[in-house]
Amino acid sequence: MATHKLLLLPGDGIGTEVMAEVSRLIDWLNKAGIAKFETEHGLVGGAAYDADKVAITDATMALAQASDAVIFGAVGGPKWDGVPYEARPEAGLLRLRKDLALFANLRPAVCYPALAEASSLKPEVVEGLDIMIVRELTGGVYFGEPKTITDLGNGQKRAVDTQVYDTYEIERIGRVAFDLARKRRNKVTSMEKRNVMKTGVLWNEVITAVHQREYKDVQLEHQLADSGGMNLVKWPKQFDVIVTDNLFGDMLSDIAAMLTGSLGMLPSASLGEVDSKTGKRKAMYEPVHGSAPDIAGKGMANPVAMLASFGMALRYSLDMGDLADKLDAAIAAVLAKGLRTADIKSEGATVVSTSQMGEAIVAELQALHG
Ligand code: NAD
Ligand code: IPM
Ligand code: MN
Repeated sequence: MATHKLLLLPGDGIGTEVMAEVSRLIDWLNKAGIAKFETEHGLVGGAAYDADKVAITDATMALAQASDAVIFGAVGGPKWDGVPYEARPEAGLLRLRKDLALFANLRPAVCYPALAEASSLKPEVVEGLDIMIVRELTGGVYFGEPKTITDLGNGQKRAVDTQVYDTYEIERIGRVAFDLARKRRNKVTSMEKRNVMKTGVLWNEVITAVHQREYKDVQLEHQLADSGGMNLVKWPKQFDVIVTDNLFGDMLSDIAAMLTGSLGMLPSASLGEVDSKTGKRKAMYEPVHGSAPDIAGKGMANPVAMLASFGMALRYSLDMGDLADKLDAAIAAVLAKGLRTADIKSEGATVVSTSQMGEAIVAELQALHG
């Protein structure tokens, strides 16, 4: 059996609480002889700042580079509001994405049958929902230069962020989206704002060209990102794969989270280019949610997004798609039994803690495994 090297980076706030449930799952998989994981642990975000005055150390970055997959919790919180911009907790996450060249962020929004009533939308709008947001993750306004605040000397300051995209960046994220669509319902919706932004004009042009050249069999449609957001809450089932830039993808995926019942339900995979020699790719798996300072330390966090992110690691990095399917089934079964963490609307359901939820999912997986 292959040994897989994982780097666990719990981070801050509920990051540590939901990561404990991944550790529980890994321990069980190792003990049961289902898989062989070697885990290392590192600090990131505020936790790293407190220890080393940086959001992630070079040593932790080296561990990330050497691992088969990085499993990331969440970073940030009001405790670090005053730290220098370069060392703020979020900088650790951004460095991981940039240095590992994780350009493709897959954010699936699936409405589990038991949670159709839990969405803020009507059940018929979200029942059976299964969409995939493909967010470009290493470009755009997150990383474009210049990125500055300048004192204009007249009591005014000027802040500049720069949105930049090159053709190759749009082509490669487009291919990820089209390839995924071929294995799903064969439809891609590209979202940008070509009516206002030059990057939107190029985005539209390049996605159209990639489609014409390589993916004519896939249905392609373009929507402006603002009305696309509106369509996402109006009739989300019109979508299969949505491909969009870094910032729009960030916003649209938080919106999509509420279609599934809670931000605590949305996992993600951040993937690099496949190495043509080894066939491997760098990857990090992270829930879409943050460190949730409002509930941190209370044992209330929903661990499903984190556990399902680990499931994406099994699928996309570790060649254990069957186990990933079983983990998804275990999550669905626990929800169907009426167990809910407090973030999910729960009339008639049993509200449980983070660890009770994690325990129930591992027990269910054990039962499914026979
Ligand atoms: P957030 O995602 O942390 O929380 C938004 C709301 O959703 C809160 O009410 C929170 O309690 C709830 N929530 C989120 N995840 C939950 C879960 N698993 N279970 C139950 N409820 C959950 O976003 P925010 O409050 O805007 O940001 C807080 C901090 O987290 C900020 O510092 C931000 O930069 C950071 N952040 C980090 C990441 C990350 O590490 N990937 C992602 C988003 C935000
Ligand atoms: C996310 C987060 C991050 C982002 C922050 C914490 C840097 O909101 O992963 O969605 O904006 O990408
Ligand atoms: Mn976000």
